[in-house]
Amino acid sequence: MSRPGKDDITPARAPSPVVLLTGATGGLGTAVAAQLARQGCRVGLCARNASALDGLAQELEEAGAQVLPLPADATSPQDAAAAVERLVKHFGRIDCLIDNAGVEGPVGPSWEVPLDAWWQTMHTNVMSTVATVHAVMACFVRQHSGRIISISSEAGRHRWPSLSAYSVSKAAGIKFIENLSHEARAHGVTALSVHPGIVTAGLTTTALHEQPPSVWHARRTQWLQEQLDQGKGVEAERAARAVVAVALGAADHRSGQFLTLDDIPDTPHPGPRLPAGPGSTRTQT
Ligand SMILES: NC(=O)c1ccc[n+]([C@@H]2O[C@H](COP(=O)([O-])OP(=O)(O)OC[C@H]3O[C@@H](n4cnc5c(N)ncnc54)[C@H](OP(=O)(O)O)[C@@H]3O)[C@@H](O)[C@H]2O)c1
Repeated sequence: MSRPGKDDITPARAPSPVVLLTGATGGLGTAVAAQLARQGCRVGLCARNASALDGLAQELEEAGAQVLPLPADATSPQDAAAAVERLVKHFGRIDCLIDNAGVEGPVGPSWEVPLDAWWQTMHTNVMSTVATVHAVMACFVRQHSGRIISISSEAGRHRWPSLSAYSVSKAAGIKFIENLSHEARAHGVTALSVHPGIVTAGLTTTALHEQPPSVWHARRTQWLQEQLDQGKGVEAERAARAVVAVALGAADHRSGQFLTLDDIPDTPHPGPRLPAGPGSTRTQT
């Protein structure tokens, strides 16, 4: 993915939005972090792997961005609360949560995959949303404003056989956001689910490059490859532009809804397209 450079980042105007981004080191997360930086946002970068976070933070800082690495397990209420507290202490406020952390989970018929792997996927994908929302809402209510963007998937809207835990967890996330948007409306807070498309990074490329451990994995990969062959893949930068547009308010009027990229007009960054940065291969596996 292309990284922002010094001339590519909108100088931070006070107060530039402060965004907490989970899953910041993944294929989509790094692109979203870079796009937030280009838009002059100050960003709290959250994932569990502290050294990967530090590497990303360093790259973005060298390009002039204001970021804060926040190593945390987003499913842990304690970690999530501590990350928000550190972010607010550092930047003085928080304006937006982009809940992007997620895992694919086990692949295969529901009764054949290990039950604990199925439940662990539910726990990761649902609790990372609920715990981070829980952590930011006190600030949002106090300041009577805030945006919550939950990175979702068509897998939560349609049947997704052989990826049941992923599908059910994403469906739960969509319903959570619907309910939250109503609960939070009176407090000036919006909440949206965004499907980024079949992103040609992150989970997709991980699946394409694995040695399929089962026939179910092979079928999932074959389906993904067919989608890409039909031109249905989405570059991480395109998906990131859409996510950040929503994070900056482009779809506030649709709070509670599930959006796809078709719902979000593309606004390419006007600045120069930069070559990939030194860490760009990290997430293109
Ligand atoms: N790629 C696609 O085509 C696609 C399509 C639709 C939706 N999505 C959604 O987009 C989001 C990002 O996916 P991706 O493709 O970028 O995946 P990815 O490359 O595997 O990245 C996942 C990110 O989540 C973080 N993470 C996982 N568990 C976490 C936890 N408990 N606490 C904090 N961070 C955690 C990972 O870092 P650590 O392991 O260091 O914590 C990593 O930064 C996911 O929600 C996914 O469902 C992706």
